[in-house]
Amino acid sequence: MLQKVIETADYLKSVMKTQPKVGIILGSGLGNLATQITDRQEIPYEQIPNFPVSTVKGHSGKLIVGKLGGVDVLAMQGRFHFYEGYPMERVTFPVRVMKFVGIETLFVSNASGGMNPDFEIGEIMVITDHINLFPEHPLRGKNYDELGPRFPDMHEVYDKELVRRAHEIADRHNIRIKDGVYVGTQGPTFETPAEYKYFRIIGGDAVGMSTVPEAIVAHHMGMKVFGISIITDLGVPGKIVEVSHQEVLEIATSKEPALTTIITEIVQSL
Ligand code: HPA
Repeated sequence: MLQKVIETADYLKSVMKTQPKVGIILGSGLGNLATQITDRQEIPYEQIPNFPVSTVKGHSGKLIVGKLGGVDVLAMQGRFHFYEGYPMERVTFPVRVMKFVGIETLFVSNASGGMNPDFEIGEIMVITDHINLFPEHPLRGKNYDELGPRFPDMHEVYDKELVRRAHEIADRHNIRIKDGVYVGTQGPTFETPAEYKYFRIIGGDAVGMSTVPEAIVAHHMGMKVFGISIITDLGVPGKIVEVSHQEVLEIATSKEPALTTIITEIVQSL
């Protein structure tokens, strides 16, 4: 695995015109943030040795290297979900490659269902912590000591200083944001009402099918992580209605400008 990571990172370093320290993974319906990236160089996943190729509609797969708010970034438009059938090692492969390319801070975005009764549809939630309910752990198996420790500490996966800056930026732009705990599940089903209730009881504010594996692997390797969720539907008793992937994409997309502002200004502050 490590050999493949290094091989892929070496390929990217040989073709990338810049050396970004900021990585961004764009979630469902949130790929358009990438249109704000200037001086861009696009690298389709098919061209990258050892890279998986994404299968879901709404997740076109390419790396975009360029400038966001004047800062060099490397963005993944399209990520790999466990529910697509990839083993965890594949889901998290790009994050490991990012580390070897020189990325120090990782931004992750996603669409998720909200269990917190104070949330509204379209709420922007900054992830302050997570609960990992994926059936396979991304660090299960041989530990690569070159990457990080066998038993990584998880007391602050999501960098508190970046969360603080997100609030400062949101306040300045009159953007409403909330903090919350993200529950990561495998999907691909959305939740039953009983499951939303259960995730609320165990301490979750939102639930989704991504982010946690990438955040764990990034944190294991000592990267700073900032995560943000767009609440596209509510798993709150009395407010639960049918959810469709289409609606999830539309609501996420409608919140993109706010998300772009927050991420861009945090990136500029690094
Ligand atoms: N559950 C899980 N994943 C999701 C949801 C949800 O309600 N909404 C968007 N992604």
